[in-house]
Amino acid sequence: MHLARELLFHGAMEHLRLKPLPYDTHALEPHISGETVALHYEKHHAGYARKLKVLIADKPEETASLERIILTSDGAILDNAAQIWNHDFYWRSMQPDGGGAPSGALNGAITRNFGSCEKLRRDFLEAGASHFGSGWLWLVTHRDGLRITTTHDADLPLRHGDTAILCADLWEHAYYLDYRNERARYLEAFFDRLVNWEFAGANWSRAAAKAPGNQAPGASRQSMARPARLELATFRSAT
Ligand code: FE2
Repeated sequence: MHLARELLFHGAMEHLRLKPLPYDTHALEPHISGETVALHYEKHHAGYARKLKVLIADKPEETASLERIILTSDGAILDNAAQIWNHDFYWRSMQPDGGGAPSGALNGAITRNFGSCEKLRRDFLEAGASHFGSGWLWLVTHRDGLRITTTHDADLPLRHGDTAILCADLWEHAYYLDYRNERARYLEAFFDRLVNWEFAGANWSRAAAKAPGNQAPGASRQSMARPARLELATFRSAT
């Protein structure tokens, strides 16, 4: 059941419409329950959208893109806009029957940067488990390569000039109904059973195509000059 028709940003600009879930609310079971997905999407994700609509009413931000709002705002407007972007990216970082290993150019980049996909998995899970409090766990392109990072609260790579490749929600509302306080088990299920490597690979390929000289960001230090706006094009193209 897609809920988007009931959760549209009525009257708002087209680009601020809440994006629909890319799958049924029960599609990620048994790893993430339909109850968690529905609550997460309807109450939390849509809640940020509703709050932003109120916050930007009759302000210049009302006609700005979501990414422009994220790059130029602060306070509650930034927090709510960033949470909309983060959740859109999170839903698309997963798919039913996901997991496994990345292929193609992303697989090669992971091997160059981490040594192996298994090492990436260990580092990703460790970073997520050790992150204190609410936030987000990311695989990003950073300067001349890939790296794993976490951000606090609503913060996101776009604000730091990095390009998001993959993300996991570390807020308790993402896993508490299914895993209680066992964030590590949730992250294992995310990585082993749900990761959408096709989405991550598309993000990587688009980042590589945008990099100077059309080289993968991990292949040349020239990519340090890549503009922060790259991530906007990457996300739009991947959804
Ligand atoms: Fe969330």
